[in-house]
Amino acid sequence: MRVLFVTSEVAPLIKTGGLADVSAALPAALHDMGVDVRVLVPGYPQVLKALPHIKLATRFAGLPEFPDVNLLSGTLPDGVPLWVIDCPEMYSRGGGAYQDEHGVDWFDNAQRFGLLSKVAALLGSADTPLEWKPDVVHCNDWQAGLTPAYLHFLPAPAPSVMTVHNLAFQGVFPSHLVAELGLPGECFQINGVEYYGNLSFLKAGLYYADHITTVSPSYAEEIQTEALGFGLQGLLTHRRAALSGILNGINPHEWNPAADSNIARPYNAKNLKNKDANKRELQQRVGLHIDPKIPLFGLVSRFTHQKGLDMVLEIAPHLVALPAQLVLLGTGEAAMQRTAQELSHRYSGQISTYVGFDEGLSHLIEAGADIFLMPSRFEPCGLNQMYSQRYGTPPVVHATGGLIDSVVDCNEATLASGEASGFVFGNGLGTHGLLVAALRAVVAYHDKKIWRALQRNGMGKDFGWDKSAAAYCSIYERLMQR
Ligand code: ADP
Ligand code: GLC
Repeated sequence: MRVLFVTSEVAPLIKTGGLADVSAALPAALHDMGVDVRVLVPGYPQVLKALPHIKLATRFAGLPEFPDVNLLSGTLPDGVPLWVIDCPEMYSRGGGAYQDEHGVDWFDNAQRFGLLSKVAALLGSADTPLEWKPDVVHCNDWQAGLTPAYLHFLPAPAPSVMTVHNLAFQGVFPSHLVAELGLPGECFQINGVEYYGNLSFLKAGLYYADHITTVSPSYAEEIQTEALGFGLQGLLTHRRAALSGILNGINPHEWNPAADSNIARPYNAKNLKNKDANKRELQQRVGLHIDPKIPLFGLVSRFTHQKGLDMVLEIAPHLVALPAQLVLLGTGEAAMQRTAQELSHRYSGQISTYVGFDEGLSHLIEAGADIFLMPSRFEPCGLNQMYSQRYGTPPVVHATGGLIDSVVDCNEATLASGEASGFVFGNGLGTHGLLVAALRAVVAYHDKKIWRALQRNGMGKDFGWDKSAAAYCSIYERLMQR
């Protein structure tokens, strides 16, 4: 089985969030299962720099709407074959994958990701210059959303899967881009790529793909509602027979407290005592008072409304008064970054904020914190709550999306059944609900027996990719048999 996996980011080469982790781990799991999977990404400078020995695979010249590009062929660190679109005009710049140094979206993102989609579609059709032709093209998020639309109008198209990692980001652009990106005018209609008078990359994918998946079963239901459908609930409900929710897994080698070079001391469920050394190291590294007994809350997140960071900032003084400590790592909205930094000054030694992207520190927070905070207003899947359970750091989460599907609330019944692994607060309860859940966590933390049980339950869970990769495989197989 040959699968082309189309994505705008892949760890460790280029990462802004969970999509990069999934784009590394899912292909690796498929590869291990014997699937001939190849990942296709844009040739950002970060990617090309990491792959000095990359070779030319083929060239796409004379595409009317796009510059000529070289397709380069390399390998990801875990052995998965990788194709990189080398087009300096579009991708060779400072800043990040989607935005410039000032956090402003690149003016030509429609062309940049139109090109990604176009190359993917060509590779999946009879027009491919390569011998290797995929049985399925697997597209991720809006950046790859035009692929199924392009495929629809090409000869002998491979079937396509469109995976939604976050419906809030849709890639909506003015309608003149339909022609400029070389899509036939007939697709600009409600049964096509049109979205309130504009072109929507994600809608294109959701409309034209043969199958749609999203990253948790609960989110698959939620996106069919007005509250979380972002205007696409009608289309998604209409296509529900072709819509599956498959929970993400995590990379068990990268996120393993027993062998993690980013943390102070390795530990596992049997020697949790060693976790204390990580708490000490974390307190020291981020400038919190060294205190083994005080409950330490950790958070690693984009600083956005979606992630509920405003709620965390609001309850922070109450946490300090318990007493408890709080460490925050992330980047995002400027106002939230400022408030977080102000809190760290006001409560120096009790709250610490690190604004930036720091992979190593994120591991140390998972290992060194006692309780992890993840009060997202909505969360398609979320990875940190799984990392934290694996690291014996029970999470406090909002009852939404993948958080529902991966955390079991701590109560008498779930403790008795050995399932309790965190603290879940009711959907829509907001700041008050978060504070109550955080207090419940602190009470539990001070009861050693309960806390150990929670930690062990979380650490014993299987968050690997095997089951989910198999679920993707059976979707691919079904599409191939059509
Ligand atoms: P999302 O993709 O919506 O941001 P996820 O929970 O799926 O949320 O994935 C976020 C990923 O990005 C996790 O691997 C998390 O550890 C990482 N991450 C987010 N912010 C930072 C940061 N500031 N520094 C290091 N890692 C971060
Ligand atoms: C998105 C979602 C997040 C999910 C990740 C990987 O960024 O916001 O919930 O875990 O994609 O699928």
